[in-house]
Amino acid sequence: MKKILITGAMGQIGSELTVFMRERYGRDAVIASGRRDPGDDHPVKDGPYELVDCMDRGRVAEVVKKHNIDTIIHLAAVLSAVGEKDPLAAWNLNMGTLLNTLEVAREYSCKYFTPSSIGAFGPGSPQDNTPQDTIQRPRTIYGVSKVAGELLCDYYYAKFGLDTRGVRFPGLISYVTPPGGGTTDYAVDIYYGAIKNKSYTSFIKEGTYMDMMYMPDALKAVCDLMEADPAKLKHRNAFNVTAMSFEPSMIAAEIKKHIPEFKMDYDVDPVRQAIAESWPNYMDPSCAVEEWGFKAAYDLPKMTVDMLAKLKEKLK
Ligand code: SER
Repeated sequence: MKKILITGAMGQIGSELTVFMRERYGRDAVIASGRRDPGDDHPVKDGPYELVDCMDRGRVAEVVKKHNIDTIIHLAAVLSAVGEKDPLAAWNLNMGTLLNTLEVAREYSCKYFTPSSIGAFGPGSPQDNTPQDTIQRPRTIYGVSKVAGELLCDYYYAKFGLDTRGVRFPGLISYVTPPGGGTTDYAVDIYYGAIKNKSYTSFIKEGTYMDMMYMPDALKAVCDLMEADPAKLKHRNAFNVTAMSFEPSMIAAEIKKHIPEFKMDYDVDPVRQAIAESWPNYMDPSCAVEEWGFKAAYDLPKMTVDMLAKLKEKLK
């Protein structure tokens, strides 16, 4: 990985992964890209930045050629709840950008990473200790596009020998960039509510378990997987990874340990609740552990301490 192109660098994980990879591999080794110019103050502009709409394959190829890219990290995607508002647009964007970047990766022999998600599972999947290889019949367009993406990455590996890698991310929690339009977003919003108002109204029902991960663990997981010995990888797309599993009242109780006045109530959104119920309660990450040494450092108590401290500072 000498020259890395990150697409969707303005998104939740994109901007933080850009900064993280620049620290790890060097400022000029990471070319961030997105559909908009984020303005010069944005952290992704601390190094090379290119305007790239991944729906335009020619433009992706041009940038790959220009910078001698050997690794593509494709992150641009529409998330689960937003996807349900305009399924056709979500399908077109998720699949169009995936195929374009895969094709360019094939043409220029790049290593390729794209994330899948807990959303790639559905009501027919075992919900507890969800295995790496199991039934995947998701009911969201986001999930359908993620399963199709996993299959395409397998296909490009088997057919063309493309070095594809990926993880099924759980809900990602971060104090830097808020997520946009996901089902797991409540677990980020709740910390903002706690700091700003000492209260939060959850759109997910009490008792609804989902997998989650603190952003530093997610960033490290991407790099560890990309650095892993290819001979050890039996799965090409995508590994179950998780750091914790909780439901809304558990995260509220954890916050209360630090902000005793914190109060949470519920106003359940039926669309996101139905999505959450169709996803795993907790996934089995053992293949990721065995094949490339996946390990998370943050559990719910440790993440809560860090989130509250960082957000307090940020929202001052
Ligand atoms: N965080 C995503 C969502 O909720 C799941 O991958 O849509």
